Amino acid sequence: MILVTGGAGFIGANFVLDWFRHSDEAILNVDKLTYAGNLGTLKSLQGNSKHVFARVDICDRAALDALFAEHRPRAIVHFAAESHVDRSIHGPVDFVQTNVIGTFVLLEAARQHWSSLNDADKAAFRFLHVSTDEVFGSLSAADPQFSETTPYAPNSPYSASKAGSDHLVRAWHHTYGMPTLTTNCSNNYGPYQFPEKLIPLMIANALAGKPLPVYGDGQNVRDWLYVGDHCAAICEVLARGKVGETYNVGGWNEKKNIEVVHTLCDLLDELRPKATGSYRDQIAYVKDRPGHDRRYAIDARKLERELGWKPAETFETGLAKTVGWYLGNQAWVDEVASGDYRNWVETNYAQRA
Ligand code: NAD
Ligand code: DAU
Repeated sequence: MILVTGGAGFIGANFVLDWFRHSDEAILNVDKLTYAGNLGTLKSLQGNSKHVFARVDICDRAALDALFAEHRPRAIVHFAAESHVDRSIHGPVDFVQTNVIGTFVLLEAARQHWSSLNDADKAAFRFLHVSTDEVFGSLSAADPQFSETTPYAPNSPYSASKAGSDHLVRAWHHTYGMPTLTTNCSNNYGPYQFPEKLIPLMIANALAGKPLPVYGDGQNVRDWLYVGDHCAAICEVLARGKVGETYNVGGWNEKKNIEVVHTLCDLLDELRPKATGSYRDQIAYVKDRPGHDRRYAIDARKLERELGWKPAETFETGLAKTVGWYLGNQAWVDEVASGDYRNWVETNYAQRA
């Protein structure tokens, strides 16, 4: 079996659901179930004995050791993290704890397990660390895209903590010979994304008749990738990636935030028209995110050249699927947008008025 951390979150759950569409290998899903983890996302797997869920914090070494001893996974795909930049600005401690300390504890538990394997299993073992393009910092409009050799320059508590975890993974390969792989991906979107992130937040606010809060001048650029394409890239890297290497994953879809919001409004105008006017009328420019990175863009040619991966979705097809999914799954949004979520929305947006 493989061990997945953070498999009740947005990308991890999409990965687990996609995995069982093409594989019958079991998954041990290790997740602490923070506000961002939702077992409701995985309810289609109820009764599937190949999906084993353990509510465990990756900082808990004893619990991890017990899971490794019982299940003896052949590989780890490590998604678990605190993932929202705005939350990292309000409360960085959880980011250092989970992203840095948690990754360290997981690496040590994995190393102990890996050391106990026979030579063939040791060579075949993989620790795949899922990271972000934000570790490379911010680009200006004229800069080339981030490549695997771009120096690290993280700017937020979130990206600094992810950079720290990337360095630990790198060191565990160089020092101990652990067979690690790292992926650095751009902004994901798709089904089951927590409604604190730009795209699901805009859809939820639009439908609720609330303002659509665009930070700063709306000209910041992100490179968008449909979550299913990210999961497919991770499967390729896990199966055929070169040990010790890093792979950039991106969608070749650079968009200004305001363009994304306009496209969402236009899709909603078509699919769920308002009685009067357009969803664009709800757009409200608000105070910027402190230290807001201007542009991210990924050069994903290494992944295409070496492993033949290319995104299947364009931004247009992926976004249409995503909007369709949110329109059909309002119950999921209502379920995850609990009291804690409402507190967060008040904290984050009150100060931006
Ligand atoms: P998410 O916030 O939706 O989910 C994170 C999951 O990790 C949740 O299920 C949560 O319960 C779990 N978790 C958090 N702390 C934990 C702990 N201490 N122990 C065990 N589980 C814990 O995040 P996501 O958007 O799905 O991102 C997954 C990974 O991909 C992260 O490592 C993130 O840095 C990376 N990434 C995300 C994006 C993106 O656009 N969302 C892009 C590139 C990389
Ligand atoms: O680049 C990969 C990263 O993408 C991941 O590593 C992170 O886990 C993920 O959260 C995402 O980070 P961003 O900060 O880019 O995503 P977010 O959805 O928070 O914001 C996208 C852009 O939209 C960003 O420029 C800020 C802006 N924004 C965001 C929100 C929530 C707004 O203008 N208004 C908002 O209300």
